Amino acid sequence: MAHARITGTGSAVPDKVLTNSDLEKIVDTTDEWITTRTGIKERRIASEGEFTSTFATKAAERALEMAGVSPGELDLIVVATVTPDFPFPATACLIQNNLKATRAAAFDISAACSGFLYGLSIVNSLIGAGSAAKALVIGAETLTRITDWNDRNSCVLFGDGAGAVVLEALSGDRGILSTHIHSDGSYWELLHQPACGSRNPADIRILEERLPFIKMQGNEVFKLAVRAMEDAANEALAANGMAKSDIDLFISHQANLRIIDAIGKRLKLSGKQVYVNLERYGNTSAASIPIALDEANRTGRVKERDIVLLDSFGGGLTWASALMRW
Ligand code: UT7
Repeated sequence: MAHARITGTGSAVPDKVLTNSDLEKIVDTTDEWITTRTGIKERRIASEGEFTSTFATKAAERALEMAGVSPGELDLIVVATVTPDFPFPATACLIQNNLKATRAAAFDISAACSGFLYGLSIVNSLIGAGSAAKALVIGAETLTRITDWNDRNSCVLFGDGAGAVVLEALSGDRGILSTHIHSDGSYWELLHQPACGSRNPADIRILEERLPFIKMQGNEVFKLAVRAMEDAANEALAANGMAKSDIDLFISHQANLRIIDAIGKRLKLSGKQVYVNLERYGNTSAASIPIALDEANRTGRVKERDIVLLDSFGGGLTWASALMRW
């Protein structure tokens, strides 16, 4: 049976940088608070005329170029996002059009920060079943468009950008070894966007009550994130008969350096095994793992046959893992 293997990675972020000192002028915060509580120093934010599909298309083009795959060869485009260009049509369809990937079926998935790994899991299964041979999975967000710039608890956290991978059905022992996806909807209120869906449709009230913007109970989410990502990592290793020491590169969702450090400690990983880039991008939700993976790939941090563990957690609540031999 053919394996799904990542043959190309790409990423794209806005040029505009928003530093912690810039945020000091917007809300009652300090560079010191943001740095010590989150590890974030700056984030990229979209300018007028830039949307989720802008960065997603660029990231996809870069991944396709690396893989040597032309858009016309694609069977499938899956975009993970909670900030699509429009509620419908799917951002994946806009990207299909931008790329002229005329043969590809295209759809979006909504699993918040776990969206990219959900996408990877779906496409891995479709490739395994023989339903697709070449696919793009993209995590892309413009979170700053649903950020409440009056809420210091959350506005310091988020950034914009996109990461993409090309997956191909290939024989051999390299590629995705396992994926696991999980959800617990009983915690949906901890992290959500109250308006812009059917529950709070557009009217004057939703703006007055600031409902189109992200609401998060950070502290609760923090605790659940550490536990769930530790469990997901252990589940992936157990499913493959591997030990923590087998991991060459661990990339978790980039939400908070204290979360990443806590998981690293629980899993007894060394600093060399753990990839961190959130100081430059903040939390980019579904885009954080594929952006980090692309950086690790392009800088030689991940090498052929390395064991790579991806681990995520986000609104839903959702959490997921993917283990691969690079
Ligand atoms: O991506 C999906 C998953 N999301 C996450 O994983 C996020 C998880 N949560 C977190 O990363 C952290 O909970 C936060 C970074 C959001 C908050 O850190 P915390 O250590 O949990 O702080 P806190 O919410 O308990 O707030 C501590 C204090 C509060 O003041 P009082 O009530 O103790 O006087 C806040 O009002 O820090 C205050 N505070 C701030 N102060 C300066 C909150 N935000 C800020 C701020 N600047 N930006």
